[in-house]
Amino acid sequence: MPRLSINNREIDVPEGMTVLQAAKLAGVEIPVFCYHEKLAIAGNCRMCLVNVEGNPKPVASCAMPASNGMVITTQSSDVKKAQEGVMEFLLINHPLDCPVCDQAGECDLQDIAVSYGRGVSRYDEEKRAVSAKDMGPVIKTQMTRCIHCTRCVRFLSDVAGVPQMGLIGRGESAEIVSYLDQAVTSELSGNVVDLCPVGALTSKPYAFRGRPWELKHTQTIDVMDGVGSNIRVDTKGQKIFRVLPALHEEINGEWISDKTRLAFDGLSCQRLDQPYMRINDIMTPVSWEAALAQTAKALSAASAPRIAAIGGDLVEVESFYALRHLLDMMGVSNRDCRAPGEQQDSRYRAGYVFNTGIKRIMEADACLIIGGNPRFEASMVNSHVRQRALQGDFPVGYIGPAFAEGRDLTYDVQHLGDNSAVLDMLQEGNTRFAKALKRAKKPLVILSASALVCAEGAKLLAKVRQFCESLKMVHDDWNGFNVLQNAAGRVGGLDMQFVPDGTGLSTDGILKAAVAGDLDILYLLNADYPEIKDIPPSVTVIYQGHHGDIGASRADIILPGAAYTEKNGTYVNVEGRIQHALRAIDPPGMARVDWEIIKGLSQEMSVLLPFETVTQLREGMALENHHYQYFDMVHVNDWGQFGRKGKMADMPINGWTDNFYMTNVIARNSGMMAKCARAGGWFPDEDTPGIMAMKGVAT
Ligand code: SF4
Ligand code: SF4
Ligand code: FES
Repeated sequence: MPRLSINNREIDVPEGMTVLQAAKLAGVEIPVFCYHEKLAIAGNCRMCLVNVEGNPKPVASCAMPASNGMVITTQSSDVKKAQEGVMEFLLINHPLDCPVCDQAGECDLQDIAVSYGRGVSRYDEEKRAVSAKDMGPVIKTQMTRCIHCTRCVRFLSDVAGVPQMGLIGRGESAEIVSYLDQAVTSELSGNVVDLCPVGALTSKPYAFRGRPWELKHTQTIDVMDGVGSNIRVDTKGQKIFRVLPALHEEINGEWISDKTRLAFDGLSCQRLDQPYMRINDIMTPVSWEAALAQTAKALSAASAPRIAAIGGDLVEVESFYALRHLLDMMGVSNRDCRAPGEQQDSRYRAGYVFNTGIKRIMEADACLIIGGNPRFEASMVNSHVRQRALQGDFPVGYIGPAFAEGRDLTYDVQHLGDNSAVLDMLQEGNTRFAKALKRAKKPLVILSASALVCAEGAKLLAKVRQFCESLKMVHDDWNGFNVLQNAAGRVGGLDMQFVPDGTGLSTDGILKAAVAGDLDILYLLNADYPEIKDIPPSVTVIYQGHHGDIGASRADIILPGAAYTEKNGTYVNVEGRIQHALRAIDPPGMARVDWEIIKGLSQEMSVLLPFETVTQLREGMALENHHYQYFDMVHVNDWGQFGRKGKMADMPINGWTDNFYMTNVIARNSGMMAKCARAGGWFPDEDTPGIMAMKGVAT
């Protein structure tokens, strides 16, 4: 461990640290612009200059390794003079834009200029101006403010794996531009806005809307995919102004996807803000009392086998728990939280979570991806796989549809075939990839949940489990078997056993039975599937949810619920990690928190649910599933014979999706997502609510 002195204080620091990191450890602040701990070191702003004894000139501390015996001074007159010089040069061409700059109030240049600048400018020549660039719907540019730190360039090429920005020219002509002046289309592009230390890159949807000191911050959990990224929701009054990443080193680091960041405008489009009932074939606003009474009457009048319930992708665990208990007490076994046709097995938790843990992807030494598109289904997980791939010696194989032009996971992948028989060949074969997988000490298998949407899905699950067992991927210290869930509510629903009881129908069966008129009541808990449109009038459809989307448009009774930013709720991420989302704003109008709606319904039906308060409800969850006693932890899960035994017919493995932007009801209603999809060359249907919102058509 090197021992060095920083401002006359001795400190031991871990091997491999830079002087800047050592100073941070010692509690000494050094100003930086280009340095960022998650990016490669560039050393180009020179703001972090310090004196190192024995060096004739100040050195850049971010690029200087800390070594034994160093004597460092960060506050000498030399250092002060050097830093003032750097600031003076940076400000020579910087516009005096602060009053109209969206970065003001959270600008590194402003803050550092106050503490380290000269206070007076000696420059009275004309300033350089750089034209703004069109970088697409996410990033607004004002390139005159750019200080050429290259954080944006390094992020896109290193982290996002899409080198769409670069620095061209030299000296006074240096400029940051996007590739061929086109939009930046990475699904992670919004992170460059957070990274830019000045107001050169700001958020286009947030432009001129608010100042940081006016906003209330709520740290909560994202539901746009199954990753459970930690986010900060900034609000003013009852309006969301922006969503930013919140640091969680084991999940999303400090990045989020563009869908997580920008789909929130979908929360104010087509919202259900009061109960409705179909009266004379017209959806009519009614009171909560009337809606709950009618729902209770319909449910009580039907026999249990002719009632079914489907839980959707965004449902939090409390609602799954409450509705399952209500259904249990009514004797209803037709219920499911899985997507139509998705054959997941809820018996063993290890069979439906990402057992390795997102953080531990960095320890893996080979990776096999089976079906799906991890880049679009779980962008932050894919970003970890990319980070591991960048370190080298990490063969990645893919079984699924061949990569068409433009399909790219952002790292080198060997396409092994599109058939389940490839698993047998890998087990028995001697190909280079098969050998690498067998040789690996910590191999990683990522089975996309969307690959399980097929007739043989349950057998495929068992086959992949057996494959992992036979290659000894599962042991005390390492579990390389992973299911990649693509919905925020799925693990919670499976944990709460919101699956068919005994001979009950699955989602697919429920939808088919409803379309055939073989049900009396279909209860949709935030579930919107295209088949719902075809359900005949003989079936009473009850829709509990927050958007007037597919489910609500066919409903006979609508019970308006709260979206993820409007309630305190528990979500479980792909790893099985239990996290709490917090309420940032109130639900609109008469909408209510979902578990309270279910509780109210149970009271109307005179069914006694085993809880009165949310605390009692959560205690019940923890009693049923002991993992719910522990928050924010990755658990070692029960391993068992999950999946369906039996010989599996060779079948194509699929699940690839090119749809990143419109995967759930909030994103479908988001005009921003519609713009991003179009900029990225993916064209949703013209009647998608988000497309209409983008065009300004009232919905
Ligand atoms: Fe002011 Fe910072 Fe904006 Fe420059 S980038 S105009 S210093 S707020
Ligand atoms: Fe740095 Fe911002 Fe300029 Fe990119 S645009 S180089 S992040 S100042
Ligand atoms: Fe060290 Fe920029 S932070 S050179």
